[in-house]
Amino acid sequence: MTTWAEKYRPIYFEDIRGQEEAVAKIKDFIKNFPLKKRAIILYGHTGTGKTALAHAAAKETNSEIFELNASNLRNKEKLKETLKPAIEQQALLKKGKIILIDEVDWVMGEDRGGIQELSELIEISEYPMVLTANDAWTKKLAPLRKKCEIVELKDLDYKIIKDVLIKILRKEKKFIDNKILTEISVKTKGDLRAAINDCQTISKLSSEDQIKTLFDERNKEEDILDALKKIFKLKATNETLRTFDQIDMKTDEIILWIEKNIPLEYQDKKLAKAYELLSETDLFNGRIYKQQYWRFLVYENIFLSYGMASLNKENKTNFTKYKKPTRVLKIWMNNQKTIQKKSISEKYAKHSHISIKKAMKEFPIIKQLINSNPKIPEELDLNEDEMAYLKG
Ligand SMILES: Nc1ncnc2c1ncn2[C@@H]1O[C@H](COP(=O)(O)OP(=O)(O)OP(=O)(O)O)[C@@H](O)[C@H]1O
Ligand SMILES: [Mg+2]
Repeated sequence: MTTWAEKYRPIYFEDIRGQEEAVAKIKDFIKNFPLKKRAIILYGHTGTGKTALAHAAAKETNSEIFELNASNLRNKEKLKETLKPAIEQQALLKKGKIILIDEVDWVMGEDRGGIQELSELIEISEYPMVLTANDAWTKKLAPLRKKCEIVELKDLDYKIIKDVLIKILRKEKKFIDNKILTEISVKTKGDLRAAINDCQTISKLSSEDQIKTLFDERNKEEDILDALKKIFKLKATNETLRTFDQIDMKTDEIILWIEKNIPLEYQDKKLAKAYELLSETDLFNGRIYKQQYWRFLVYENIFLSYGMASLNKENKTNFTKYKKPTRVLKIWMNNQKTIQKKSISEKYAKHSHISIKKAMKEFPIIKQLINSNPKIPEELDLNEDEMAYLKG
């Protein structure tokens, strides 16, 4: 059970794509150790090759790697206990050694003592230390910065991402439509791990389903934006009543979109009226669900469409750039999801001896792997809620 991102992880410097500057800097850092700094921070967005680069540096210099991560920084004393012996000169060690402290910025607020301890240990390290972080400039890392060389890993260009995907697909003998590959490469915004994961997911679908998935995603957003334009810009007519009929979205979510965009469209009295209408719909919605008067659902749509459009005394022609909602329900829904996702990841991580963070990052693939074999959920001892989440 490996993911493509794992299977195709870079081994040597030349496998690390699009990070020539960072590669040159880490080479230089190791070559000059300990003349300048004793540690280097590799920072950059997720999935750009930080951890991979640290491992490649060890491989290229024939060094062994000693690896810790944020969870080891939690306890100051324990950190010292583990790290100190590792950074001291070992007479018998013929190979070189690189000390990797992965994801240092993942230490929580209350664990900052670990950062202080780490920064003291850097000064006496007999071996080059490589630290990785998404953000090197957060306040909590301040004590480390002056002791480290700081090197950025760039968001990968979509052309590089696409090229990596094509090569992987060739090796896997899988096919994805060129348009979809471009879409994945652009949408993942420089995160190659995410791109590889998306690619693995979508490669399992038939080419028809691949295209359908792509367009469903796109259309859903276009549809709701179109609907918003109708109810916010046009006078109410009979046509208005059908605005939400064709949209594949639950009323709860439609309400969120409307709520988010009301202030972009109305001011003063109209703003107040629009909110009033929305809260009435919300109340109504609650009542329908509680008393199960399903046939009233249709009125709810009327409130939202006709009601909202009645605020427009005439058709407007101005352009408004609508926003995506982020609030309440969505956050709540996501939190619910996160809880299940976390507990499943924990179980999977334990079972497969990988870190929980890694399992969380590779979740879409792990989800597929678990779903693909009925024995796995049993092996992982997943409960009903976790199973429901996986099937949803
Ligand atoms: N620059 C790159 N060149 C080639 N492959 C890459 C590169 N960056 C990421 N990858 C792919 O993505 C996977 C994850 O990369 P890596 O673990 O190095 O990311 P990271 O920058 O450490 O991310 P995070 O901040 O989430 O820890 C790799 O196994 C590899 O498949
Ligand atoms: Mg990493």
